Amino acid sequence: MCFHRLLITVTATLVSAIVATASSGLQGWSVADVAMLQSLSLRDLEPLPPDPGNRVADDARAAALGERLFFDTRLSANGRVACGTCHLADRDFQDGLPLGQGVGTTAKRTMPIAGMARAPFLFWDGRKDSQWAQALGPLESAVEHGGTRAQYARVVMEHYRAEYEAVFGALPDLAAVPAAAGPSGDTASVTAWNGLSVSQRRDVTRVFTNIGKAIAAYERRLDVGPSRFDGFVDALLTRRPTAGLLTSDEVAGLKLFIGKGHCTECHNGPLFTNYEFHNTGVPARTGLPVDGGRLAGAAAALQDEFSCRSEWSDAAGRCPELDYVITGDRAQQRAYKVPSLRNVAERPPYMHAGQLATLADVLDHYNRAPAAPLGHSELHPLRLETGELRQLERFLGTLTGPVRVSGAVGIRTPR
Ligand code: HEC
Ligand code: HEC
Repeated sequence: MCFHRLLITVTATLVSAIVATASSGLQGWSVADVAMLQSLSLRDLEPLPPDPGNRVADDARAAALGERLFFDTRLSANGRVACGTCHLADRDFQDGLPLGQGVGTTAKRTMPIAGMARAPFLFWDGRKDSQWAQALGPLESAVEHGGTRAQYARVVMEHYRAEYEAVFGALPDLAAVPAAAGPSGDTASVTAWNGLSVSQRRDVTRVFTNIGKAIAAYERRLDVGPSRFDGFVDALLTRRPTAGLLTSDEVAGLKLFIGKGHCTECHNGPLFTNYEFHNTGVPARTGLPVDGGRLAGAAAALQDEFSCRSEWSDAAGRCPELDYVITGDRAQQRAYKVPSLRNVAERPPYMHAGQLATLADVLDHYNRAPAAPLGHSELHPLRLETGELRQLERFLGTLTGPVRVSGAVGIRTPR
């Protein structure tokens, strides 16, 4: 054997030995795959960003008050609806219904809450730019809690005075404020609201916004907990054997998820969402008003009475997310917030109005990529086989984990 041949043979043997060692450490995954898996796992979960718009966001007393308000049915028109009526603590803060049921029926499906303090925009169409502002929406919605801000301020005065004052300072004198008054209630409530003085209205609205800030302080502490998928990635990254942690179908589904399925184009990061809005051609639900999705939501976020730029926010006008909001872009037509896929197998039916009954239906939708009822779907047909769709479904089942309550002493997640 000539020297050159020998050199080539030795080099080739060495290279294949190195590759074999490296890939045996990665147990068959490429370096790029492993980086992707880590980015999807809780190892890469970023700490909660601060919420400058809510100065009590990280105050444990505010969170304790917010927790009680979240489950208090007195904050409703009929005394039977709380946030926790639709956002059930033992069901991933969701309700398993196609459309949320409060004092009436909503036009959208209830969304989970854990981890969403990281989202710059809330609701399927992102019409709210903070958790505290979001909480004020359902309270004044005629089909959710159905009450008025004056009613809610009085509930605080009568039942939470000490807890409220410890966090926010003295309550204003609300004795002369009627039991029902608000800018968006029924005719009698609106008339009563218009009869209040400017300073009375401001006093009521101040207490109302503080209810939202206390609830947001509680919601911030609800975070996503580890799933079997995270255990698998942990083992892979620490070079422990992964065999038996996921089934072969689940592993095959994971490969499709990060590969041929193109799912990580939108469902990426440890919460499996880019927090953005996309039109994926989900059919409209019959019987509901025409819905513009993000096209309407972006405009609404800018105009919201309680936006980051409003006088009720503690952000002092520093609102980078709002500064970059795009409006009027046709691509936003029927674009909806990319939902987290954590715990997704536990909460059928799916999509913004519960249009698809099962995960199999969702995967069939992605496989076919039908035309959107309005605007343009960003999807392309995947042409996966039945077995592959089943594997993807199995993989989604590995994302189930507990809701973790973090960052506060003495806060419980009621069951
Ligand atoms: C009648 C059922 C119902 C009640 C009561 C209710 N919600 Fe919701 N929640 C929903 C529905 C439906 C959506 C989606 C609505 C939409 O996008 O238009 C939602 C969305 C949310 C979101 C957005 C999550 C995200 O990822 O964008 C949060 C946070 C939330 N609700 C918190 C609350 C709080 C706090 C309360 C009490 C003040 C509350 N909800 C009361 C049904 C309800
Ligand atoms: C172009 C962005 C995009 C891509 C790519 C994408 N999704 Fe989605 N996904 C979304 C959006 C947006 C929704 C919500 C749509 C709606 O409700 O109208 C969604 C909803 C879902 C839901 C329902 C979750 C729920 O709580 O309702 C599942 C499950 C899901 N996607 C899985 C996948 C899988 C699996 C893939 C890859 C085959 C994938 N997605 C690819 C954007 C995307």
